[in-house]
Amino acid sequence: MTQDELKALVGQAALAYVVPGELVGVGTGSTVNHFIAALASFKDRIPGAVSSSEASSERLRALGIAVLDANEVGELAVYIDGADEIDPLGCMIKGGGAALTREKIVAAQARRFVCIADESKQVAVLGRFPLPVEVIPMAAAQLTRRFAAMNGQAQLRMREGLPVVTDNGQHILDVHGLQIADALGFESQVNQWPGVVTVGVFAHQRADVCLLGAPGGVKTLVF
Ligand code: 5RP
Repeated sequence: MTQDELKALVGQAALAYVVPGELVGVGTGSTVNHFIAALASFKDRIPGAVSSSEASSERLRALGIAVLDANEVGELAVYIDGADEIDPLGCMIKGGGAALTREKIVAAQARRFVCIADESKQVAVLGRFPLPVEVIPMAAAQLTRRFAAMNGQAQLRMREGLPVVTDNGQHILDVHGLQIADALGFESQVNQWPGVVTVGVFAHQRADVCLLGAPGGVKTLVF
């Protein structure tokens, strides 16, 4: 099975976690795109979705699924999103698609986080995937020095010769070379550095369930 077929498998399996009659939180990325496609068959059973990016909102609307503003709704039953890495405790690195800030906001609004990923995303210790950090542009150099002091090499994410600009109008640093054994402590520490909007470690908002796509089928991990 290809990686995309594994993503499609878990995207479909995540439908089982959508609660009829309740709003669903929807993440961002290629795995979530499969979930959004599957959600089309369920759209008459939910009032709509709260989305973590302009890209996902566009896909949802194109399928006739209402997208509600996070400020206009209360708690969500479930948030479904992919991950770049997931560790044995359900802590994740996210933000490969630059949507980490809104992803963390919607995740924090949900009772349950269901992570969907192919099995290549499972790691013993977070950090092989360069850690995305959304930053206020004027703090980028200062934050690069702070990461260097912990042996991380931060690179400004670029596209076509220009810094990537997030849905929130900010930039992304991708930090290479970290080994994040204490994900909770690391997230708390980096979060309070001036200029950090969001660090892509999801330990306070870790997954409650992970559906991992493997050639033998979907493995369900409960944390
Ligand atoms: C986007 C994310 C994605 O969930 C993460 O990058 C995984 O993406 P994909 O499903 O395409 O592998 O955090 O900001």
